[in-house]
Amino acid sequence: MSEVQSYVRSLQRSQESLTRADRPSVFTMRGRDWDLLDEVFAPIYSPSTGIALDFLGLGPGPGPEPGLGSGLGSGLTDGAAEAEQAPLKGSLLEIGCGTGIIAVTAALAGCGPVVAADISERAVENAARNAARHGVSDRVRAVHGDLFSGLGPGERFDTIFWSSNYVRAPEDYEYRSVHERAYVDAGYAVHRRYLAEAPQWLTAGGSVLLHFSNRGDVEGLNAIAAETGRELRVLATRSVPEGGDMVEHMLLEAVSARTAAAN
Ligand SMILES: C[S@@+](CC[C@H](N)C(=O)[O-])C[C@H]1O[C@@H](n2cnc3c(N)ncnc32)[C@H](O)[C@@H]1O
Repeated sequence: MSEVQSYVRSLQRSQESLTRADRPSVFTMRGRDWDLLDEVFAPIYSPSTGIALDFLGLGPGPGPEPGLGSGLGSGLTDGAAEAEQAPLKGSLLEIGCGTGIIAVTAALAGCGPVVAADISERAVENAARNAARHGVSDRVRAVHGDLFSGLGPGERFDTIFWSSNYVRAPEDYEYRSVHERAYVDAGYAVHRRYLAEAPQWLTAGGSVLLHFSNRGDVEGLNAIAAETGRELRVLATRSVPEGGDMVEHMLLEAVSARTAAAN
């Protein structure tokens, strides 16, 4: 495992982001103010939330944040593209909503209905607060659950998106707090379930998207995708300096391996 993929380092970053003296209760991003509750993933200490907004076509306003370069090849299938997605439309399920900034921005951009789900109860509360702050509580429902467990049986979405905890921790790692789940996934058990289960929550023609990076185990993720009958396509990439490393972020689409082979 390379240093950039170290789960110990990620857990240190998790801890630091909670205890920093400058951690605000409200932050400004993309020209809007957002509540940030204790114990919730803070979008301001890593570029990933801003990149996710750009990947989903929910970005500028202001354009890529300073210091963000454009993508390099990732070694995944189908050739990495540098372009961002066309803006999202229709219904959206955001898994792992954190503060709700992505779900609420999507609703403000016209998506709906939007469901913002998280395994952290504080994050769910945070997302509901930010939906109210920006007047979209009628279109954004914040739900608590492990992946899809908070959904009703008949719910279906045009897009399912997770900006994931892509750093891989050992299978037997025991989480010390729910906040650590924003940073690392023990044995990629949650990534495996996401890839296996997300398609059943899609509308016909809907997409399962995953924001991942080379802090994660790209090869391992591809192997898990294959085991769950999926293939990962790279829709966009962006390389950014993070804490002295260059990190490549990628927007992946999980498609049925059978459909991919037929095309
Ligand atoms: C990297 S953070 C992203 C937060 C937010 N989307 C953002 O971009 O600012 C990953 C999020 O996934 C959530 N998460 C981790 N495991 C989960 C699970 N099994 N079910 C639902 N959410 C989960 C974490 O609590 C965290 O809020």
